[in-house]
Amino acid sequence: MKKYFVLSLLLVLFSCKQKEGTQVELNLIPKPNNTEFGKGNLNISSGFNAVTKNIDTESAEILLTFLKNSVTISPSGKKLQLVMENPSELPAPHESYMLTVNSDGVLISASSEAGLFYGIQSLLQMVENRTSIPFVKIEDAPRFSYRGAMIDCSRHFVSLDFLKKQIDLMAYYKLNRFHWHLTDGPGWRIEIKKYPELTGIAAWRTHATWKEWWDSERIYLPEGTPGAYGGYYTQDEARELVCYAAERHITVIPEIEMPGHSEEVLAVYPHLSCTGKPYTSSEFCIGNDQTFEFLENVLTEVIDIFPSEFIHVGGDEASREHWKKCPECQARIKAEGLKDEAGLQSYLIKRIEKFLNSKGRKLLGWDEILDGGLAPDATVMSWRGEQGGITAAQSGHDAVMTPGEFCYFDAYQANPGTQPEAIGGFLPIEKVYSYDPVPAALSAEEAKHILGVQANLWAEYIPTEQHVEYMLYPRLLALAEVAWTQPGNKSWTDFRTRVNSAIPVLQQKGYNPFTLSNEVDFSHDTDSVENAITVTLSTEKAPADIRYTTDGSLPDAQSPVYSGPVQVPDSVIVTAQLFDGEKPSGPAVTRRFDYHKAIGKPVFYNIPVNPYYAAGGEKALVNGLTGGLSHGDGRWQGFMTNGMDVTIDLGSTQSVYSVNARFMQSIGPWIWFPKEVVIAVSDDNKMFTELSRIKNSVSEKEAGTLFQNFGWQGAARGRYIRYKAIANGIKGGWVFLDEIVVW
Ligand code: ACM
Repeated sequence: MKKYFVLSLLLVLFSCKQKEGTQVELNLIPKPNNTEFGKGNLNISSGFNAVTKNIDTESAEILLTFLKNSVTISPSGKKLQLVMENPSELPAPHESYMLTVNSDGVLISASSEAGLFYGIQSLLQMVENRTSIPFVKIEDAPRFSYRGAMIDCSRHFVSLDFLKKQIDLMAYYKLNRFHWHLTDGPGWRIEIKKYPELTGIAAWRTHATWKEWWDSERIYLPEGTPGAYGGYYTQDEARELVCYAAERHITVIPEIEMPGHSEEVLAVYPHLSCTGKPYTSSEFCIGNDQTFEFLENVLTEVIDIFPSEFIHVGGDEASREHWKKCPECQARIKAEGLKDEAGLQSYLIKRIEKFLNSKGRKLLGWDEILDGGLAPDATVMSWRGEQGGITAAQSGHDAVMTPGEFCYFDAYQANPGTQPEAIGGFLPIEKVYSYDPVPAALSAEEAKHILGVQANLWAEYIPTEQHVEYMLYPRLLALAEVAWTQPGNKSWTDFRTRVNSAIPVLQQKGYNPFTLSNEVDFSHDTDSVENAITVTLSTEKAPADIRYTTDGSLPDAQSPVYSGPVQVPDSVIVTAQLFDGEKPSGPAVTRRFDYHKAIGKPVFYNIPVNPYYAAGGEKALVNGLTGGLSHGDGRWQGFMTNGMDVTIDLGSTQSVYSVNARFMQSIGPWIWFPKEVVIAVSDDNKMFTELSRIKNSVSEKEAGTLFQNFGWQGAARGRYIRYKAIANGIKGGWVFLDEIVVW
């Protein structure tokens, strides 16, 4: 204990010394890749006297306008020089810049307007709420050329002004791609002059929230119908956004979904579906040439609005069921010598790619565009994990990494019990920050195909603009640093300090960020101590006291202050809360720990756990920790379709009196109780004796979040416990359980 104390004292002293005049004072996000501090500070209380060199008049005016909006420009201010250096001598993208602060003033130099713009953003962050800035020399360039954010404007519509406000912040944090999800079943959002029904009907629906609409008949209404919810962007508005973003060095990439996620199109143009009837399909008929005529006409108008090199064509989550039964689709498969329906989908993507290429554009699509064979020049957006990006890069294609586990900002960012309803999953800011977009599987040569990284904000459960900001920030700041800063220059603890300073600034500017957690984090260890679990508590907010109880009551000013790992034997409920002196300053967070005899024992997965819901790995089912109300809280293990089947090795043959596991049912995210559970025991891991077979009696339609124990009690002997849960057979359904408790 004493040793720890001395060590932590040293750490405190060391970190204080480190902080003196360093990055912590600059608070830049993303962290620059090269910073050298000088001795002294520049007083900027009378503003800046800005001069430009080698910059054309129009560009200089735009850059100075950005400065004027945030700092005082006055002849009596400190000298601020913006200098364009030899643009032709450096390879694209010219996004690097140099920023020097010394007694002469500030010098920002770059070989491109983008570089100068980023230098200005760094300066604006440095001067935020200050009257002096430290002498410093920054030489900075991004790690990735593609640094993106996607907003889904189909599920819920947001105003153009709101999007401009988000573009402002993206630019401030040096992001440079806005992926605009403009079309999807819940509403078409971009004016297409040739097809007026897209915005006249398919942009309007019966219910304001996606959830209510999804649970209803999913009907579209003519624009102007009283109560109709929706909206769209006119072509002029879209051009205005493109221009606004371009001034901020952000490219707007439009997404037009095909062949799936197209219910809204097929409701108004049913002849483009395999059935020919409205409200029957979400996929275009690929056998029908009119589908291509429609898509190419739409893309022609889209290309005219958006100068972006990439046009995103969706490509995700298409059902192939209608194509299997459609004579025209089958005829296309035959005529083109395609292998199957995956080949048919690939045919559409390849044909659309040819069209885009003929217009000088490149196709970008979700990783399903790999199925059935990738189009020759396509770029893959890897969302179902990293494999899409890996496959693309290994076959010489470019990829943008957006794996759900790290980049889907529609997931909860804190304890779901404290948050507005989200689609599920758990993505705290620290996890976003931890992401490295270059998969370890790639060679250095292959890694060059990783263009960058993007955050995706799907909006099923995000009905208001305020809520969009709440889900985006501050996680987008973490993503900005992932995209810009070299891994060796990143540090979570350092970032946490900077992001904690950035949050009040965002609030001052009128944004609605989630505030970094004042919740207590739990971690625990079951390996090192016999018959006990060691619980460690921590917090993002320091300094603050954590008080805790172990009897289920809420902590108060008399509860012990946490001072180091606590051993909790047997069954204990730990409730912990941040305190500012005597007063609670955060929500109470509760975890239940159950000691039992399978704790920490080896578990063999006869069916693999889904990597998205591994809850930390192979000890998750025997770690003594019970899951919370959300399947995505990192304490539940999830298994898809085939159910689960594990064998636990108790280490020696012994008496066994009970085996229990708790399952979740939550039909929104497709989680059902198992159809049946089988519990068996064995001495040799070969011959098993069945102890119990328990059938589920809860309806698959039962809504809400339900929990049920499936267990056995009795007297048996054995070394190996096999616990098998058979999924209920609903296609794509999940089985979730948190712990297998053995006594
Ligand atoms: C996706 O999340 N369906 C790309």
